[in-house]
Amino acid sequence: MNLSQKASDYPLSEFTGVDVAPIFPSDVMPPNVTFKQCDILEGLPYSDCSFYYIHIKDLFHHFPLKIIRDQLFPDLVRILKPGGWIEIQDRDPNMINAGPICKRLEDMLSLSFLNHGIHIKSHYDDMEKIFEQNNLIKYRLEKKTIPYADLDLAIQDYLSTYKAMRFALTEYSGATPEEYDEIVENASKELIEYNSEFSSSKYFGQKPMVYDI
Ligand SMILES: C[S@@+](CC[C@H](N)C(=O)[O-])C[C@H]1O[C@@H](n2cnc3c(N)ncnc32)[C@H](O)[C@@H]1O
Repeated sequence: MNLSQKASDYPLSEFTGVDVAPIFPSDVMPPNVTFKQCDILEGLPYSDCSFYYIHIKDLFHHFPLKIIRDQLFPDLVRILKPGGWIEIQDRDPNMINAGPICKRLEDMLSLSFLNHGIHIKSHYDDMEKIFEQNNLIKYRLEKKTIPYADLDLAIQDYLSTYKAMRFALTEYSGATPEEYDEIVENASKELIEYNSEFSSSKYFGQKPMVYDI
């Protein structure tokens, strides 16, 4: 989700972004956007029932399943208002028709995950169970496979997602941060050349109006 765009589209709503890294864009933001730099594993810095909608994108694969299920998800549900929704959006890190540079980045990512004890596939297999265990209702999954060539925004998103992981991945690339950025730029050029496609999944669930903790 492009926070700035959404905030401009819905000026009467308040939007809050969080990330452990200082990735908040430096451009002027609409007045209804705030950003907090925080480690969400240290507890979300918001009171109970604060938000109507929580959108999480390309984040869950950073954490072991047990942390997502037993720590992060209950905290997310805590700050959601009764009747509010959670949307988890994740792109399958293994693209279809990957070129050699994209494949190199994917390999770095897989290695980094494995070194943190994370097996990405099991996250998605268990997502419905995680929603259920946290008493969320109306679970729904939407899955799409899209060629990068059809969606300019997806290429920009590929670039910004891998750049956001610069510090996590440079130790696996053997490159300096500047060289790493160049690898990512070159990988993004392959997306059209190789007719690469990506699969994106969105998982939705609602907090019931009456919620038993
Ligand atoms: C793949 S990027 C996705 C960034 C953004 N959500 C997007 O879709 O463009 C994953 C992000 O998760 C952030 N992250 C990783 N661990 C985190 C933590 N413990 N608390 C907050 N953010 C974290 C990273 O800093 C990185 O920006």
